[in-house]
Amino acid sequence: MRKNIVAGNWKMNNDLAETSELLTHLKMQLVKEPTAEVYIAPAFTCLSHAFQTLKETPIKVAAQNMHFEKKGAFTGEVSAQMLQSVGVSTVILGHSERRAQFNETNEILAKKVSAAIEADMEVIFCFGEELKERKAGEHFDVVKRQLEEGIFHLSKESWKKVILAYEPVWAIGTGETASPDQAQEVHAFVRETIAGKYDEATANEVSILYGGSVKADNAREIFGKEDVDGGLIGGASLNAIDFLAIVNSFE
Ligand code: G3H
Repeated sequence: MRKNIVAGNWKMNNDLAETSELLTHLKMQLVKEPTAEVYIAPAFTCLSHAFQTLKETPIKVAAQNMHFEKKGAFTGEVSAQMLQSVGVSTVILGHSERRAQFNETNEILAKKVSAAIEADMEVIFCFGEELKERKAGEHFDVVKRQLEEGIFHLSKESWKKVILAYEPVWAIGTGETASPDQAQEVHAFVRETIAGKYDEATANEVSILYGGSVKADNAREIFGKEDVDGGLIGGASLNAIDFLAIVNSFE
């Protein structure tokens, strides 16, 4: 059985006081046994506080990025080991904002994925096409290449530590959501591609999240699709009521 997962990517939002307030609301309002695993990914500066605040709750804390080296002269960077030292064992890699604004190529991402897995971290690996690629009908090719070059070097065994997140770039923060059928089509294609590279069991066991303008009022329909196992939520994760409504959107 695949896990349902809802992860809130806070991006560069919420200082320590704001983080503390949002965590208080999340803790108070999260139902005892949510039907999904819940993650939040605050800024690096708030990871330690978030981990300490949430450690007795089912909410897990993820980082939004990391470097592939363990330590050294990499000003401004953070390693897997540093994340683990503050209790964080999950990292989001390959987000389209990192790809587009910080020049993270598939090659760099492959190194980050390896470093995270070698450190025994769990990886939420993001991929997705841009609008021009969708319009040109190239989205399947783009997605396949991102997977092949970014994460298909992993052994079958390592896939136990992988969560995928399909995020069509044109749907991120735009209010324009991929239709549930468009999401399902790509998710099914991804599963098929994984089965081709590895096997059916690996493909069927990996949770594939959809991300891109998921809100409380569209989550149920998107999550209702066979190959959609939850969501990576940006804007709507900054409000406890909205985020928890999304968490509770599974049948
Ligand atoms: O990581 C989250 C995605 O970029 C989606 O962001 O829900 O604000 O569109 P959004």
